[in-house]
Order: sequence, then structure tokens, then C-alpha cells
Amino acid sequence: MGSRIFVCLLLFSSQILATLALADSDDTAALNAIKSSWSNWPPDWKESDPCGWEGINCTDSRVTSIMLAGTGVEGSDFSDISALTELQFLDLSNNIGLKGILPASIGKLKKLTTLILVGCSFYGPIPDAIGSLDRLTFLALNNNSFSGSIPSSIGNLTQLSWLDLSYNKLNGTIPVASKSAMGLDMLLNARHFHLSNNQLTGSIPDQLFSSNMNLIHTIFDHNQLTGNLPSTLGSVKTLEIVRFDSNLLDGSVPPDLSNLTNMNELYLSNNKFTGNMPNLTGMNFLHYVDLSNNNFNASNVPQWITSLQSLTTLMMENTQIQGQIPVDFFRLPQLETVVLSNNNLSGILNIGNSYSNNLTLDLRNNSITDFMQKKDYSMELILVDNPICNTSGATLKYCTVENHHNNTFPSNNCTAKSCYKNQVLSPNCGCSHPYTGTLHFFSFSFSDLQNLTYYKTLNGALMSVFLSNGLPIDSVILANPTVDMYNYLQFSLQIFPSGQHSFNRTSISTIGFLLNRQQFPLQYYGPFFFIDEPYCCFAGSKKSSNAGIIIGVAIGCSVLVLLVIFAGIYAFLQHRKAKRASERSNPFASWDPKKESGSVPQLQGAKWFSFEDLKKCTDNFSESKCIGSGGYGKVYKGAISSGQLVAIKRAQQGSMQGASEFKTEIELMSRIHHKNVVSLVGFCYDQGEQMLVYEYISNGTLRDCLSGKIGFKLDWSRRLKIAFDAARGLSYLHELANPPIIHRDIKSNNILLDDHFNAKVADFGLSKLMGDTGKGYVTTQVKGTLGYMDPEYYMTQQLTEKSDVYSFGIVLLELITAKAPIKHGKHIVRAVQAELDDAEGSENLDKILDPAMGSGSHVVGLKKFVDLAMRCVRESAADRPTMGEVVRDIENILELSPVNKKMDTKISRSSHEEESNLSPLHSYDTEVSDVSYGSFPFRVEHQYGK
Ligand SMILES: *[C@@H]1O[C@H](CO)[C@@H](O)[C@H](O)[C@H]1NC(C)=O
Ligand SMILES: *[C@@H]1O[C@H](CO)[C@@H](O)[C@H](O)[C@H]1NC(C)=O
Ligand SMILES: *[C@@H]1O[C@H](CO)[C@@H](O)[C@H](O)[C@H]1NC(C)=O
Ligand SMILES: *[C@@H]1O[C@H](CO)[C@@H](O)[C@H](O)[C@H]1NC(C)=O
Ligand SMILES: *[C@@H]1O[C@H](CO)[C@@H](O)[C@H](O)[C@H]1NC(C)=O
Repeated sequence: MGSRIFVCLLLFSSQILATLALADSDDTAALNAIKSSWSNWPPDWKESDPCGWEGINCTDSRVTSIMLAGTGVEGSDFSDISALTELQFLDLSNNIGLKGILPASIGKLKKLTTLILVGCSFYGPIPDAIGSLDRLTFLALNNNSFSGSIPSSIGNLTQLSWLDLSYNKLNGTIPVASKSAMGLDMLLNARHFHLSNNQLTGSIPDQLFSSNMNLIHTIFDHNQLTGNLPSTLGSVKTLEIVRFDSNLLDGSVPPDLSNLTNMNELYLSNNKFTGNMPNLTGMNFLHYVDLSNNNFNASNVPQWITSLQSLTTLMMENTQIQGQIPVDFFRLPQLETVVLSNNNLSGILNIGNSYSNNLTLDLRNNSITDFMQKKDYSMELILVDNPICNTSGATLKYCTVENHHNNTFPSNNCTAKSCYKNQVLSPNCGCSHPYTGTLHFFSFSFSDLQNLTYYKTLNGALMSVFLSNGLPIDSVILANPTVDMYNYLQFSLQIFPSGQHSFNRTSISTIGFLLNRQQFPLQYYGPFFFIDEPYCCFAGSKKSSNAGIIIGVAIGCSVLVLLVIFAGIYAFLQHRKAKRASERSNPFASWDPKKESGSVPQLQGAKWFSFEDLKKCTDNFSESKCIGSGGYGKVYKGAISSGQLVAIKRAQQGSMQGASEFKTEIELMSRIHHKNVVSLVGFCYDQGEQMLVYEYISNGTLRDCLSGKIGFKLDWSRRLKIAFDAARGLSYLHELANPPIIHRDIKSNNILLDDHFNAKVADFGLSKLMGDTGKGYVTTQVKGTLGYMDPEYYMTQQLTEKSDVYSFGIVLLELITAKAPIKHGKHIVRAVQAELDDAEGSENLDKILDPAMGSGSHVVGLKKFVDLAMRCVRESAADRPTMGEVVRDIENILELSPVNKKMDTKISRSSHEEESNLSPLHSYDTEVSDVSYGSFPFRVEHQYGK
């Protein structure tokens, strides 16, 4: 493979390099027009010849490619692009600031072969004119907000190989050709139909599939498709991955399906299929099958399962199967996970003695009465809610559900080393700014997320594709594998630069292009998309020829590469050493919140809201109700039916978390009830949305208040009270919550003030549960906000409660000085320490005190308070007090001042603004611009420290 790419690369890159020239004047005018309507373009776009600009490449003085993936460009006018009539490659993916309607004039780009707009903010319909781009081979519009129906004119794109429209708001039916219109059935060269996560309705036309097609992936899950699964699907013999899960399909599964003998992964779960359980005999390469939650006729455990020698994963939850499981079943060599919960399996369970030790077998809620290998068995077995556990066996291992701890993949052995400021330690012990994001896999052939083979394969494939494209990359870290609520596999990805501390724009856009263009083979993994986090710190443009090389490959090798790659991917799947599979069944799969019946999730007091409820109370999420935003999405203010004001945090597509994390987070937060912690009112998990509903806190953040934005000046007693409140909230999380919670992102922006200026700790977005690791710390990726981050945590990646104490110390210093933690490049701890050293023990602390408070001599207890703050920020975590001690110390300081005994709100106003006119921006979030390393500030992560 590598050598073929290399040959292509020689052939084509030299050809392109030879044809560089100054840009044509029309193209120059067009690019200048784009430049004037967009912002945040690369700094070198000031030079006169656009052919030399970062992200732009020319051939024969015409612009042939624009590659700006992940570079942070912003804009809403795309009409000028259409003047670049020689354009072949347009990749603008991962620029969340590109928003607007894709204009019909895009149809003028007749030479376009590759259009990638993954993860931008496009909305409105996909223009019909897309059908005139008849050279397109690769069209990826996924992860935007496109609406309306799929234009039938896409059927005109007969060269198209890759069609990805997933994660949009497309509705209407799937277009097929008729006398007057074209349709997707005409795309005979297409290998990929990715249409999942839209709002498509109607039935799947028989005509959509035919034996002339060459599809390998048909991914239609999470729509509202109805009717039967057409038997014509069985005629597309090339198919390897088929997902129709989470639709409204009914009728019986056509027997023709078993003609698809190349099938690797088949998902039909969460539909309304009836009739007999499909017979999958002959699908000898089937690795992953999910038939859960359908209304099949009652049947015994199908015998055909035992013939599927490649099977790793069998999901047949709630499929009406009954009787005993044949012992042969456990002899399948590659099995990793079998979920047969919520069925009528009965009798005695016999697993024989030739099963894999790493098998996970979930038989929850069946009628199994006994188990042959009660004592000596080594698989992960769950028999909860079976008669065998109702009797004396209740304490047996298989009658409890263990809390699975997921894996920590190898990271680095450089614990002694620390990095400067916001740099991160790479696996090779270098310090730099990694480019980070998440890979979302539409499908995958395994289920054992702890098996290092799968991790190493992915890591190796990424490194080799990056390096063979000449990118300056030191290493990559893949972490936090989770299966999200759509049954997609996610990995967080950090890519570290080599030879410099950060990537330039060309490297970033090349990485983005390589990932979302997916020109490389990946064993075990299906197709994916990459959503990044905005890169913090582009290096200046030092040009390399990466883009040219890639284009060379793309032009010259696309056919060859596609053929070789995709024919090869799944054929090569073979022996893997299975390990313990982790709990991966979708906790919401059988849970219909509309009925509010299911027992999961277990909430204490928090309420379920429908999407319609929240839409109504925010005027359809209107901008005027938006009170904040961040990497995860937006926060809206609204009033729920009880009249209570709430703040609604709405995750945007791409920053959704997996169902199990979302569930963990709401369960966790619903248990937190403390007057100094912002409480969760409810949540929404409906129509593909994830929202958290919090109590609305009227006076904004402590940061805003200290910076004078709000128009109030806080006097000393009020500051002490705020410190006291926040300390109590935090000590509650550390010492009284069960399990204890490390907040991980304490900062003045996450301390909210109510209308009596009582402080409440907000945002558990990065929180970490202290499970019983028995070690007193959890190992995590470093996350938090610049300026507040505990240096020791930073160095060791071991998170303890003392990391929060450090951040809280910074907040105390802010209360004293009103200064931001980092100002003019100087950290607040050093600045205060320097002043204290200058004062040489004298009691005069005026210099550090917020000028708004006047002279320090009137400030009772200031010395003690400064002292406490400095203890909190001590370098060694062991030397810092606990939050309980901090609370007591602040209480003692409060006692010193007679005024403070009665905590009346005494607020000195610096202006005469009406209180009711103040609507401060809330930050229920961690700001992305803060270079917080939080990949998804919306999530509570599972704990991988094991
Ligand atoms: C289909 O493609 C042809 C060129 O092959 C073009 O002339 C025609 O306008 C296209 N039709 C639509 C509906 O875009
Ligand atoms: C599809 O969505 C558009 C707006 O996005 C709406 O106007 C139209 O009525 C919807 N069509 C169907 C069939 O739901
Ligand atoms: C599936 O195979 C059977 C037997 O070879 C054949 O009769 C049937 O037409 C095939 N179905 C399709 C949809 O091609
Ligand atoms: C499933 O299909 C195979 C091959 O077509 C056949 O031999 C077998 O009897 C079928 N099994 C059932 C339960 O129908
Ligand atoms: C493409 O443009 C980049 C800069 O954006 C430059 O480094 C590279 O040499 C160009 N490649 C070709 C083949 O023109």
C-alpha cells in the first residue's frame, strides 16, 4: 500500500509543483472578495499573490484547491467561491464559524471532485445545483444543520463514490429516479451511503438497491423510516456494513438478506420488525450483529449463530428468544460480547468449557434457574433478574453488576517532566500544543474496548498516514473509547507536533483533510468522521508541500486507493485476542422517556423535559434567549411551566456525549443538592438532543462581578461570604457527595451569584467521580482552564481533590486582587508572591488589594485570608489544606469581623443601573478560548484509571 502511494505521489506531486504560477486575475478578485467577507483567515492572506496563501493551491495560475480544515475561518457568504471555476478540492471542514446557506452558485464549480464541509454550521437546503457538479467523487456534508429534503439531483453525480449527509436535519423521503427526476439509485459507482441521524421519513424504496450497485456501506440509522426493509437490499452483493437501526421499520426481515455473504456488521436494532428472526446462515464474515428490540416471533436461540465463526459481538436484547442456549454457542472463537438480556431464556445455563475467558455474557432479566459452572467460570457473566438470583444466590458474583472501569491506554513514562503553561506532554516526553478532537466511527467490528490490539491498530494507521504525507507529527494519543447513544464508537485524539511547539495552519488543514477524506485502510474500523476542537495556537506559516502531495494522491490514486483499501479492509479481519469486554449496552436502548416508565436513569428530583417543552420555553431557541455559549453548544434562558426560570444547556451536534455518560452525568447531578451548588432541574434526551436544565442564577458570574461588568462593587464582607459559600459548595462535593466529586474546573467563571449574592458552584462539565480506586487519585487526561490548573496534576496527570483546592486558591486571590489569574503573561500566584516579598513582613497589603476596596487597613482578616489563599496554591498538593479546612479557616476570619456576623446583603453600588436590567452572561461552561483541555466540556467522563 505504502509503496503504491509513494509511486502515485512521485508521479503527481511533481506534476503539480511544476505548474505553480501567479494567480489569474479573476481568481485573485474572487479570493479577495472571500477574504473581505470572511474573517479570521490565515495571516499570510495579506500577500499579493493568492497562489502562495496558506490553504490555497494553484495549477496553471488557476486556483485548484482550497483547504482550510480546522483553521478557524469564519464567514457566512459563500457566493464568491463560485467564481473559482477551476477548483477541484474544497475542504472547509471543522470551521464552526462558517455558517450560512450553501448558495446555488456552488453549481458553477464544474471541476470540483471533492467537497468536504464536515462539522461546519451550514443550514438551509442542500441546493439542487449540487447535481451539476458531475465530477464529484467525494461529497461530505455531514455534521451541519442542512434541512429540507435530499435533492434528487444528487443522482446526477455518477462519479460519486462517497456520499455522507449524516448528522443533519434532512427530512422527506429518500429520492429515487422517476420519469421526471433523478435519484440515489442512479449512483452506481457509489461505495458509501451515509445518511444516518437525519429526519428522513417514508419507506425505503425497492428501487433504491439493485445488483448493478457497488455499495459497501449503507448507513441509514436514526431516521424515521417506515415500512419494510426492501428485499432488493439482498442484491447488492458488495455490501459489508448495513445500518438501519433506530428507525420505524416493520414487517419481516427479507430472507434475501442472507445473500449478502460479505456482510461484516449488521444493525437492525430498535425497529418494529416482526415475523421470524432473520436467518443469517452463510454470512461467514459477520463480526457484529445487533437485532435488539424488535418484535420477532418467539423462537429458540437460533442455531445459525454457531456457524458464524467470525462473530465478535451478538446483541439480541429483547428479541423474544426462549429456551436454553446451546452450549456450542460458546465455542465461537472470536466472541467478545453477547447480550441476550430481556428475553425468555430458561432452564440451566451451560457454558461448557471452551469459551473465551474474555467473553462478556449479559443475560439479565431472563428465566434462568440454574448455572452449571457456578464456581469455576472465568467469563464476565451477568444473571441479574433471573430466578437463580432471586433465591439464595443473590450475593454471587454473577448476580451483581460490576462497575466496569475502562482502560487507560499507554500514555507516557515522563512523570518527572513538567510542561510550560498550556503545553501538554507527548508520549515521547516532549512539550507542545496538541491538535485535539474526536473520531466518531459509524461502525466497528469488535466490542472489547479494552483490547490493546484495536487501539494499537488505530494508532499505527494514523501515524503511518500522517508520516507518509510528510506531516511534522511526533505522536498521537487515542483515549477514552466510548460507545455513544447512536452506537457509534468515539475516540478522543490528540496529535502532537514534532520539531516545534505548535502546528501551522497548513499542517492542521492537512490533518483534517486526511482524516475526513479517509484515504487510508483501517482494520477493525468502519468509516468515521473527525470533529476537532478549535486549535489554540497556530504557528506562523512555514510552507511545506503537503497539500500538493495529498492532492497528487487524491487525483492519481483515488480509484486505486479506494479499490485496494476498501476491498481489503474487512477481508483481513482475523484472529484477535479477545479480552474482557466492557459494559457497552446502550442504557437508553430500552428506555422510552416518553413513557417515563423505565427505571433508568435513576434520578432524584430531576425532571424529564421533551424537546418540544424546551423549544417552547426558549422561543424555539431564539438568539435573544441565548445567555452564553461554549465548545459544547449554547445556554438559553427560559421559564418552565411551573414558572421557574431555568438555564438550558444544549449540546450541539458533535459535542454530544454517549448515552451512558449522559446518564451518568444526569444521575450524578440529580443527587447533588446543596444551597451552594447550582442544581439540576431536569434534562432532555429527545429527538437526538441532549440538554441539561439548571436553576437560573440571576447575578452572573463572580468573574463578571469582580471585573465590574455587572456594575456592583463587592465589599470585603461580601467577598468573604462568597468565598465561604463557594468553599462550602466545594467541600460538599469533596466530602459529602457519594461518590465524591472532583470538580476539575473551579474558576471565578464557574461561581455564580444569586440575587442575594449567595455564591453557587456551577458546571460539572469536567467533573470526575472519585470511585473506589483505593488510591485516592484518578489518572486522567489533563483538563481544566489555563491559570487555574494545579501544576502537580498537570505534571502527574493524577487528579485529587487537592487540584480543586489549588484552583480555589486562585479564586481567593482573585477575590483579593480582582485580577485575572493570568495578566500580562504573569500568573497571579507569582504576582502576589512578589508583592508579599516586597512588603517584607509588614502588614501593609494595600498593593495587592483590589483598588475598589480602598485601603487594606480597614479590611479585617486580610492577612489571614491572603495566607490561606497562598496555602491553597502551594506547589505540593500534600501541603495544601482540604476544602473542609478551608471552610473552617474562612469561618474563623468571618468571626473576626463583627459586621460580618449578620450576613445582611450590604452591597455598595458603583452605578445606579436598574437591577432588573442586568442580564449578565452566564458561563455554565468552560470557555474553549481558554485553552481548556476539556475535549467536551459537557461531559462527565467515565473513569479509566485502572
Ligand atoms: C446533470 O449533469 C449534466 C452534466 O453531466 C448537467 O448538464 C445537468 O444540468 C445536470 N442536471 C442537474 C439537474 O443538475
Ligand atoms: C422539512 O423541513 C422543512 C423545513 O426545514 C419544512 O418546511 C418541511 O415542511 C419539512 N417537510 C417534511 C416532509 O416534513
Ligand atoms: C438471493 O439468492 C436467491 C438464491 O440464490 C435468489 O433466488 C434471490 O433472487 C436472491 N435475492 C436477491 C435480492 O438477489
Ligand atoms: C437457515 O438457512 C440455511 C441455509 O439457507 C438453512 O440450511 C437452514 O435450515 C435455515 N435455518 C432456519 C432455522 O430456517
Ligand atoms: C500548496 O499550498 C501550500 C501552502 O498552502 C504549499 O506549501 C504547497 O507547496 C502547495 N503545493 C503545491 C503542489 O502547489
